[in-house]
Amino acid sequence: MKHYELPVAEPLAGAAPASAPEAARGREHIVFDNLQKRYQGPQGPVAALSDVSFAIARGEIFGIIGRSGAGKSTLLRTINMLERPDSGRVLIDGADVGQLDEDGLVALRRRIGMIFQHFNLLSAKTVAENVALPLRVAGVKPAAARVRVDALLDLVGLRDKADAYPAKLSGGQKQRVGIARALVHEPQILLCDEATSALDPETTQSILALLRDINRKLGLTVVLITHDMAVIREICHQVLVLDGGRKVEQGEVWRVFGDPGAEATRALLRPLQHDLPADLAARLSPEPQGPGASGVLRLRYTGAGRAQGVPLAALAALGPGATLLHGGLDRLGGHAQGSLLVSVPAGILRQEAARAALAADQIEVLGYVAADA
Ligand SMILES: Nc1ncnc2c1ncn2[C@@H]1O[C@H](COP(=O)(O)OP(=O)(O)O)[C@@H](O)[C@H]1O
Ligand SMILES: [Mg+2]
Repeated sequence: MKHYELPVAEPLAGAAPASAPEAARGREHIVFDNLQKRYQGPQGPVAALSDVSFAIARGEIFGIIGRSGAGKSTLLRTINMLERPDSGRVLIDGADVGQLDEDGLVALRRRIGMIFQHFNLLSAKTVAENVALPLRVAGVKPAAARVRVDALLDLVGLRDKADAYPAKLSGGQKQRVGIARALVHEPQILLCDEATSALDPETTQSILALLRDINRKLGLTVVLITHDMAVIREICHQVLVLDGGRKVEQGEVWRVFGDPGAEATRALLRPLQHDLPADLAARLSPEPQGPGASGVLRLRYTGAGRAQGVPLAALAALGPGATLLHGGLDRLGGHAQGSLLVSVPAGILRQEAARAALAADQIEVLGYVAADA
């Protein structure tokens, strides 16, 4: 019971994204070594996982993202051997989970909590009974179970709903019950399979804040799969991008967001980006047309160089005619990144010094717009 005395207050919305203190995170907790998995589909074999190798550090929130069918659920389920790879190994604390016998698997699954998109609660049981169920199955005495369940309901902010039935709860409350139930055996790992995909944006924020809180307070390793980059941005430290069963990218979240290397990653990021607005795109031509034309520049900030922000002097260097058109900066893991669209008088772009500055600063000329009619 040692970890759970602290009742958690309603988590702060919009708290800093990076959660567990760096010092609390540590060495390799889960290692995936060259996993392969095929299924027999109606049209022949489907390669769900191909050559997948990576490691998850203890205490981190690790996101796995990919479009539908990328192999995310299959990969997640190899951690507790709900899915066995055809070859390759999954090591937890150095031990090959594929070698466990039945008793070993039962013990392993108790050390790994899991939550799901559709909550998987029993509708005929109350909130407290749902949370208590794994304890009952494990033979824990009712009085001891009750103490534990109360502490967990405090942790997820649902003490007053102990005797309610799931049908009376909102989606966010149901997921809180799912989280409490996943934590009953004091797991060291929490697996989240699209845990917020059935929730509205506001509820998603509160569940993500709770997961961040739990990660920080209990030092759990959280492995989270999602198709939504906004979820990754919100709470993950590391992200792995799966595409067609293969790992196409992995890294710290701010690095992958600031400078995605794989086309699959760029496609997943597109909905979050400040793209060229349609009205501006329609007016853009490849060469300046007529006097008074302006060049439209895209300034991209990956977060790598100017970690603390973008000095306005960098814009001033583009001359007094520079105009901010569109865009914005986000802060991710302490790094400012994003993109800005700026227009400058076309003449500036013909100057040697300006060209050099553009080249040095990853500034892209998108095109030109004619002077306002
Ligand atoms: N039990 C199964 N039988 C046959 N094919 C499966 C099975 N489970 C998953 N697949 C296939 O494997 C691929 C990966 O599935 P999955 O891991 O569920 O992806 P994701 O969670 O990223 O949507 C998909 O093509 C899917 O259709
Ligand atoms: Mg899935």
